Amino acid sequence: MWDIDKKLSNHIDSSYSGQDRDKRGTINMTEDVLVFLKPDAVIRRYIGARTIKEFLDAGFKIGYFGEAYPSKEFIETKHYAQHKGEFFYDWLVDYVTSSHLLVFILTGDDVICEVRKLLDATITENADCNSIRGRYGIFGGINVAHASDSAENGKRELNIWKKDVIKIERNYDYTERADAYINKYINFSMVDTIRYREISKQLMNEKINEKEAKYLFVNLLSKESDLNREIISRFAEIMIRNALSRKEKVVEQ
Ligand code: TYD
Repeated sequence: MWDIDKKLSNHIDSSYSGQDRDKRGTINMTEDVLVFLKPDAVIRRYIGARTIKEFLDAGFKIGYFGEAYPSKEFIETKHYAQHKGEFFYDWLVDYVTSSHLLVFILTGDDVICEVRKLLDATITENADCNSIRGRYGIFGGINVAHASDSAENGKRELNIWKKDVIKIERNYDYTERADAYINKYINFSMVDTIRYREISKQLMNEKINEKEAKYLFVNLLSKESDLNREIISRFAEIMIRNALSRKEKVVEQ
């Protein structure tokens, strides 16, 4: 979760390095954050391009941008190790490893806080409808992108990703690479996210069965993706498990 207390205490701690005061007297810190687009935003090409554009339009510098293929073991034992034992952990690992990811390092004043604001709440239904997750998150934990949630986690994540997954080349223009991605996919065909939410709810309410949901999901995803059928089919199954697990949660309460 977004560690707002820590963020506030960092603002108050005037001994923090790299700080600067803006015109309102607030202390700003230049920092880095690790962000990645999750498989929903990788597969749904327009949504990915749109999300990247919103990060760039917010004025953050791009220190890295590229496709990443982390192993299942890395996601399980390193990136999401703190979630082991949670009811959503197995599903989360399968979700995040269901396609490649698009990883960024963004730099800017208060970038962790600002990126978390753009994304908003973890669970799609709780996110503000103007935020990235509120507009494009499919349902439950299928929520477009990951971003480090505190300075401490930001450092930890940057270290493990740099060590095990990404290789940053000096003097490479990653902004140009991100711009090329945006230009390639910003006019790609797009399906309204509401359609996926409706199908998820129909499945939860037993108005349709898993086979019908899969057919509908695959059909919609195919319209907004150039990735292969195997990835799309695997991700459709992730959406089905997500909807069914949320049904179980509702029943339990
Ligand atoms: P978390 O780190 O708490 O959220 P965030 O990504 O906003 O920092 O959770 C990691 C991921 O786990 C989250 O992006 C989606 C998934 N998740 C669920 O599916 N259900 C849940 O109840 C929670 C808390 C997370």
